[in-house]
Amino acid sequence: MNIRLSGISRNVALQCVLLGISATLLGCAVSDEQTAAMPVSSTPTADKIVIAHRGASGYLPEHTLAAKAVAHAQGADYIEQDLVMTKDGEIIVLHDHHLDQVSNVRSLFPGRHRDDGRYYVVDFTLEEIRSLSVVERFEMVDGMEVPVFAGRFPIGNSRFRVHTFAEEIELVQGMNKSTGRSVGIYPEIKSPAFHREEGKDLSSAVLQIMKDYGYVNKSDLAYLQCFDWEELQVIHDELMPAMEMDLRLVQLLGGTAEYAWIQEDGAFDQLARVADGLGPSMHMIVEKDSSAADIRRTGLIAMAHAAGMEVHPYTFRRDAGTIPAYARDFDDLLDIFLNQVGVDGVFTDFPDLVVKFIDSGNDLN
Ligand code: G3P
Ligand code: CA
Repeated sequence: MNIRLSGISRNVALQCVLLGISATLLGCAVSDEQTAAMPVSSTPTADKIVIAHRGASGYLPEHTLAAKAVAHAQGADYIEQDLVMTKDGEIIVLHDHHLDQVSNVRSLFPGRHRDDGRYYVVDFTLEEIRSLSVVERFEMVDGMEVPVFAGRFPIGNSRFRVHTFAEEIELVQGMNKSTGRSVGIYPEIKSPAFHREEGKDLSSAVLQIMKDYGYVNKSDLAYLQCFDWEELQVIHDELMPAMEMDLRLVQLLGGTAEYAWIQEDGAFDQLARVADGLGPSMHMIVEKDSSAADIRRTGLIAMAHAAGMEVHPYTFRRDAGTIPAYARDFDDLLDIFLNQVGVDGVFTDFPDLVVKFIDSGNDLN
């Protein structure tokens, strides 16, 4: 989908010169030296937030209550919930609107796939989905389940189940009470256009649950995120006012053509009218082909901060092959993003490691 912002004209060259936005975004790049004078985050390092991406998913299968409890115990500031809707209108915590890469749905419900071979959440009731076993994320290779991250929790060990959004909020709020900590939630509306095609208004249902559990205003411990810019505008302009809500919103960004419109003049001002923050891929902030001697910042941070938005990039992992070549190790990657580039928080599968880095004073010099 090619989403365009109204009233925006292209002025790529000027943006490149003035703001240093990236080669990935605009076809030009700036070096670390050139961006030295750029504003970095006004957020002190100790106040930067650690968002547990799908829970402590580096240690336990993603989006299980076990992964969320561990993330809370490891000191995450916010815990993420990706949200999709079942056939009977229940909201569950699952990354995909498919069931087949994190569960045994193939063996329990053979024949319940669509013509594309996928098993859709929206075709199953909550009761049916609760009967599934959730496992570490895998890909099918020659008929075999091959884990996406080989070093993580073994597929088939122990027993995990899908849970609802409400159940997860009750876990987080329960642990907040029992530990005295104040951990927030960071829900994501997944595939809203798909849900609408299926006759499901996911956003309204998510907002109602958030309101029921006390997440109403920007001062509450929640960010609501979505990749779909049109949906975020609907949430901001129509759904929240109708429900007397005013949550912090985050526009997610991917490094695909779908998001090319953020290159346009005025795009960040239009984003900031709706969003309190941006959640870009880390590669939209530092060029993937940077070197240790030449960290090539894109300028996205400077533009977002100038427009008054926070920036929380995804996803910080320490698994083999996931750390960009320009970083020596996971701590070096955190130093680059949290200290040098100045993001306001990070999505991570390893909340304990980011908490430890921040708490240590993170002086790598
Ligand atoms: O929502 C932030 C990050 O989780 C985006 O990527 O695909 O893991 O939801 P994804
Ligand atoms: Ca997400």
